[in-house]
Amino acid sequence: MSVVTIQAERQYEVHIDVEFKEALKSISKHREKIAFIFSENMRDQINDLKVGDAESFYFPVADSEAAKSTKTLLQLWDWLGAAGFTRSDLIVGIGGGAITDLAGFAAATWLRGIDWVAVPTTVAGMVDAAVGGKTGINSEYGKNLIGAFHSPQSVIIDLDWLSTLTDRDFAAGLAEVVKCGFIKDVEIINLLKGKSLKEIRQDRVLTTNLIERSIKVKGAVVSSDFKESFEREILNYGHTFGHAVEIDAKYSLRHGECVAIGMIFIAELSFSLGLISQEILDIHREILSQLTLPTTYAGSDWDVLLGHMRLDKKSRGNILRFVSLDGLGKTQRIEGPDEGALLSAYEKVCT
Ligand SMILES: NC(=O)c1ccc[n+]([C@@H]2O[C@H](COP(=O)([O-])OP(=O)(O)OC[C@H]3O[C@@H](n4cnc5c(N)ncnc54)[C@H](O)[C@@H]3O)[C@@H](O)[C@H]2O)c1
Repeated sequence: MSVVTIQAERQYEVHIDVEFKEALKSISKHREKIAFIFSENMRDQINDLKVGDAESFYFPVADSEAAKSTKTLLQLWDWLGAAGFTRSDLIVGIGGGAITDLAGFAAATWLRGIDWVAVPTTVAGMVDAAVGGKTGINSEYGKNLIGAFHSPQSVIIDLDWLSTLTDRDFAAGLAEVVKCGFIKDVEIINLLKGKSLKEIRQDRVLTTNLIERSIKVKGAVVSSDFKESFEREILNYGHTFGHAVEIDAKYSLRHGECVAIGMIFIAELSFSLGLISQEILDIHREILSQLTLPTTYAGSDWDVLLGHMRLDKKSRGNILRFVSLDGLGKTQRIEGPDEGALLSAYEKVCT
């Protein structure tokens, strides 16, 4: 068991490799009521969950992105109101990133903010969504358009959850782990080299180490730049093209799969601009392929993807901005790269 401390709008702890019921007990002392928000799919694992003396309320919601809707949020507010939730009560979100985003946003908005705890159950949730204080839901105009910064009281990471995760979701979560290796913690890349997805899944010590290291990377960045000005942007490595692919594929690909494709794109772009070596470019393809993540994308024409990238929130005006590498574990920015280099990177990825 280990603890990573995050300094956001206030300090909180991420408890790694703990038994979640035990961990919840100590965190929820002195609470009268606890609302457990979870996906319908997990009803069997949560239904009779009881923590200490607190009265438990169970709020099952739709699965995955369907949970992050205004409809679900309205229902949650009604439930919280009917159950008489006050400032001293607690919300606990148990699930993938979609559920912890929703639970966190419900907590951010109920009574202008009540305490909440995140219990992420996917790799992506553990290393990314539940850490960093961003909460939110989707609007019909786009993903994550409605939201708030509202850090949890605590994040509880119980690796037992991961045993039921599909290989596809496990690998998608690992894309963010790989990203953390490229931008800051090179030891992550060393640990992943030559390892297949199966080997990683079977090795709990390695999985724990990778998750802890990634949380430390995100935690350090978030602690230095909570509200995303400059430093936090490095977490968007692979995300500019990745988001374009995500939109282009109409969200049929996992976020992590799009980030994997986006990392190949930025590595190709950086290589053609002379910013990274052939070796670093090759490591991208090698590691992502070993993890069964996609490294190519057969989607729309360049103009369409370029249009999506121009709408990305990191672009300023018409100038495209990317997070690139400056060697392994270090980043630099690319602003307004040459159109020819962009097109050539696209052609390498979208074969
Ligand atoms: N707030 C942030 O900073 C942040 C960062 C990254 C991603 N996100 C959000 O996170 C979401 C993606 O998270 P995700 O990848 O966890 O997807 P998800 O929450 O949609 O979960 C993926 C699937 O895995 C299932 N699942 C969850 N835990 C499981 C388990 N232990 N065993 C078996 N199945 C399980 C879910 O029911 C779901 O069907 C997106 O909505 C994204 O916007 C938020």
